[in-house]
Amino acid sequence: MRHLLDTRTLAKDDALQILDIAEDMAATQQREVKKLPTLRGKTVVNLFYEDSTRTRISFEAAAKRLSADVINFSAKGSSVSKGESLKDTAQTLQAIGADGVVIRHPASGAPARLASSGWIDAGVLNAGDGTHEHPTQALLDAFTMRRRLFGGTDGTGGRGRDLDGVSVVIVGDLAHSRVARSNLWLLTTLGANVTFVAPETLQPYGARTWPVTVRHSLDEALREDEPDVVMMLRIQSERMHAAYFPNEREYARNWGLDDERFGVLPERTLVMHPGPMNRGLEISSTAADSARSTVLEQVANGVSVRMAALYLLLSGERTDNA
Ligand code: NCD
Repeated sequence: MRHLLDTRTLAKDDALQILDIAEDMAATQQREVKKLPTLRGKTVVNLFYEDSTRTRISFEAAAKRLSADVINFSAKGSSVSKGESLKDTAQTLQAIGADGVVIRHPASGAPARLASSGWIDAGVLNAGDGTHEHPTQALLDAFTMRRRLFGGTDGTGGRGRDLDGVSVVIVGDLAHSRVARSNLWLLTTLGANVTFVAPETLQPYGARTWPVTVRHSLDEALREDEPDVVMMLRIQSERMHAAYFPNEREYARNWGLDDERFGVLPERTLVMHPGPMNRGLEISSTAADSARSTVLEQVANGVSVRMAALYLLLSGERTDNA
């Protein structure tokens, strides 16, 4: 694998390899000294054109725990605000000798452009591009599901397994969500059954041609789909330039995981959220802070999954056909 740009074209074997290596990485993170020498001498640049807390910190921690040198670049406060193009920025990174570039960008397709441009030899990892994809988020979500559902009592098993037959209901602002898209492709590849729940205005364009059950009613999905996992997504107000639902109270009442809906969820059902959460809107605090919630586990697992991805892409010699 040379780049990690999406999950839509990620082969099942490659996905399982990342998840299994992430298990090995997670085991090393239990040690007192968490640092491995694997990427010593390599340089990873975090190129963030959009705000981020978890993803950015997580990639930084992952690269540092593999002993890479990490350069953090944020568009704010850089020459990007002076109008510098992606091409010039990429050529600058090439000149300083970047081996890996982790890129988050508001434009869908920016990481693919960077990977295929010839401007740079580095391995490119997509950390979220527009409404398109966020592959490492989907991988850490799948890793979290596999551990919780098949991991045994210590949660570290499940190695080698796919997610055959697992029912995942994804709820919320699907139209703007790269997390929903990346999860759909990866989960489908791993054998899970996915349902999208949102008002029609928040369903992604084209969803009816995808391998997903589309529903408008959360109560119906909870009843009919017997979910093993309910994944709540953030209402992305910053990407909304029109009214997609009447008001927040109405949204929470119809599509929120409120205390009442949480109260009748079966004991085994996991509650997931990629963060950042709008507490009281798409998820109640009772649900978010419960033992069935994996919100913080997702963050912790994110480091292991990104260590695995960086390791697979950047260790060894990089050649054009590697
Ligand atoms: C998501 C993102 O930025 O795509 N967050 C994340 O990476 N943990 C989802 C969001 O912003 O709501």
